[in-house]
Amino acid sequence: MPATERVDLVLLGFGGVAKRFVELLEARRARLPFATRVIGVATARHGCALSPAGLDAPAAARGKAVAACHDAACGRPPRDAFELLARAAAAGAEAGAGRRLVVVENTPYGAADGRPGVDHVRAALDAGADVVTANKGPAAFAWPELRDRAAAAGARFRFEGAVLDGLPVFSLVRDTLPGVAVRAFRGIVNTTTNHVLSAIDRGRTLDEAVAEMQAAGIAEADASHDVDGWDAAAKTAILANVLLDADMTPHDVSRTGLRTVDPAAARAARAAGRAVKLVASAGRRNGSVTAAVRPVELPGHDPLARLDDTAKGLSLDTDLLGTIQITKSASGPDHTAYALLADLVSLHRP
Ligand SMILES: NC(=O)c1ccc[n+]([C@@H]2O[C@H](COP(=O)([O-])OP(=O)(O)OC[C@H]3O[C@@H](n4cnc5c(N)ncnc54)[C@H](OP(=O)(O)O)[C@@H]3O)[C@@H](O)[C@H]2O)c1
Repeated sequence: MPATERVDLVLLGFGGVAKRFVELLEARRARLPFATRVIGVATARHGCALSPAGLDAPAAARGKAVAACHDAACGRPPRDAFELLARAAAAGAEAGAGRRLVVVENTPYGAADGRPGVDHVRAALDAGADVVTANKGPAAFAWPELRDRAAAAGARFRFEGAVLDGLPVFSLVRDTLPGVAVRAFRGIVNTTTNHVLSAIDRGRTLDEAVAEMQAAGIAEADASHDVDGWDAAAKTAILANVLLDADMTPHDVSRTGLRTVDPAAARAARAAGRAVKLVASAGRRNGSVTAAVRPVELPGHDPLARLDDTAKGLSLDTDLLGTIQITKSASGPDHTAYALLADLVSLHRP
């Protein structure tokens, strides 16, 4: 993407993550190597807006109604994300060269089959747009198809925020480890469960720890998606698909959640210098990839054992560089918004 090119953004989903992204984009605008503007927004219940000349996304992030951002000069507001995409792509084609369409997909994760994210990404790539997303659904349920579709369309599909909230895992391997093969990985990829296990170590029961996370806004009202390991399984499927060239979905990941953890045993392990952690792992053996999420008692010298509360991390077993570890000390929505921004900037590179 040449530096003089302008990037037109279409936001599919305009909830907490997309709004933080808009705010971050505004705050860091001067540091970006290209100009951007938001030309479309789609939501489920708050309407859609298209404005080929650009709309006031920061105002929308502050609460201006999405419907009020629509430019009536381009007809009625789009009915849904698909119509918005088609009309935004057509407006870009009419405007000619020098504009690149990037779709920022942040609709809810579809735990059954990755929808609607999978369908949105497919439609965006087919329209020739690049895609950045924090939604786990597309890469967890349809990686080989979407990867190939992006290649066929000459478009890019990026999702750094879907797994480790901005910790650069996919870009690390893609951009800085040419020719290196990842043979296996182990990681701590879910904030809620890691926080819960740290609280259990401090003397809480599972239910008390989950209630604390919910009161702090870290865990969802229904925490079973985290506690039973489903969120970690989705992230494990993405990591296995991309890093190990697998073709799996979260349903293919062997999964044991936190309900099997004995709090007394976890505290005894901690007292003895070890730590019980929910470990996501996968490896290639005899030509096929197996993946698992399960509580594991780790020795104290294991780098993953030292990741407490909101810390996360990943250990990559590579063929040329041995084991590479990457960790971060905290997680949060700003980190996810940053991941989207970093992915957007990465599109600028050849
Ligand atoms: N929150 C985090 O810290 C975090 C971290 C990492 C990844 N993620 C992922 O990022 C994504 C967004 O999360 P979020 O917290 O921003 O979610 P959110 O606040 O629930 O927002 C979701 C947005 O998607 C819209 N939407 C739902 N279905 C749609 C459809 N079919 N077409 C168009 N728009 C649709 C919703 O519309 P309405 O406004 O009308 O409801 C809403 O604007 C999710 O996939 C999530 O798993 C989130």
